[in-house]
Amino acid sequence: MPKIMHVVGARPNFMKVAPVMAAMDKRPGLFQQVLVHTGQHYDYVMSQVFFEELRMPEPDEYLNVGSGSHAQQTAHVMLAFEPVLLSQQPDWVIVVGDVNSSLACALVCSKAGIPVAHVEAGLRSGDRSMPEEINRLLTDQIADLLFTPSRDADAHLLREGCDPSKIHLVGNVMIDTLVSLLPQAQARPILADLGLQKGQYVLVTLHRPVNVDHPEVLREILAALDEISQDIPVIFPVHPRTRETLNQHGLASARIRFLQPQGYLDFLALTDAAGAVITDSGGIQEETTYLGVPCLTVRTTTERPVTVTLGTNRLVASERQAILDSFSGVSLGQRGGGKIPELWDGHAAERIVEVMAAQVI
Ligand code: UD1
Repeated sequence: MPKIMHVVGARPNFMKVAPVMAAMDKRPGLFQQVLVHTGQHYDYVMSQVFFEELRMPEPDEYLNVGSGSHAQQTAHVMLAFEPVLLSQQPDWVIVVGDVNSSLACALVCSKAGIPVAHVEAGLRSGDRSMPEEINRLLTDQIADLLFTPSRDADAHLLREGCDPSKIHLVGNVMIDTLVSLLPQAQARPILADLGLQKGQYVLVTLHRPVNVDHPEVLREILAALDEISQDIPVIFPVHPRTRETLNQHGLASARIRFLQPQGYLDFLALTDAAGAVITDSGGIQEETTYLGVPCLTVRTTTERPVTVTLGTNRLVASERQAILDSFSGVSLGQRGGGKIPELWDGHAAERIVEVMAAQVI
């Protein structure tokens, strides 16, 4: 039976791999699946809780690479992944998204002559100062199959000279997970636990280095959030990278409600019921577009432009006044202000499996 190796490393990978593994499980006898976790994210709240809530199997191989500079992290993943790849000898490796682990493993595969498929291929922000943009560009250049979430992604890949026969428009796997777990998320008591009313709070996440590694930038954004929280509760689950800057520079606000990072279900429940979301995440731009929740993305570019052209997303600079001005134009709690992009329908993983099946049969 052909062996498929899935690679996960960091938080946004888990909800993309889970539906692909589940869809392969529904085709018994077709694939043998192996799961590798690089350990790029390792805290319970950044990793293990997602395995439990997404009902993913325990990883077959755990590489335990942990944190470090980009070069250290990428190199550690490569060094730890190569012997696992060579001993497991999969027929295909599937990497997802744009984190360091995805590029590192794709690079090892390409040198070892083992074909690699990239899920969420073709996204481009055009901003090469983002580590993720470099990871996207390079992973796509060496991947043998490119699964794209939207037509703009196909266009980028063609423009960069990728062979059209490698490109498959399958839709958004992250939305597969959202569609299947939304009812479970909506049944969680998190709103009541936090004393929140549907549509009457703002949910915030920030973790991009450009926003959170520089205290003066983070201070500007917090000033805007603090002002917003005079009128409406602001709920802010804090990523470890952001926590580090807050602690190191004594940045605080008595009004903003800082929380631990949330698990998948509680975070989805909080997003679904939010009056508006303010974020710099990639995936949350997509989730708010699907849910029709107004979203302000604190970035100057996005690799997910359909969330702006079709969806509920607006870009805003990381400056206090710009955020306040944009926020004043948001219709709080007003749902359905956009359209759901093509093929964001809960069936992207099934389409991936069809293509993979044709490769291995
Ligand atoms: C990584 C991804 C980013 C993704 C994000 C989601 C890259 C280049 N970046 O960024 O695309 O949006 O994950 O979270 O791959 N830390 C912990 N516990 C953990 C993990 C990290 O405390 O479980 C701390 C460490 O101090 C670490 C820092 O967070 O240095 C940043 O982690 P890292 O994996 O380097 O990058 P992220 O900012 O999480």
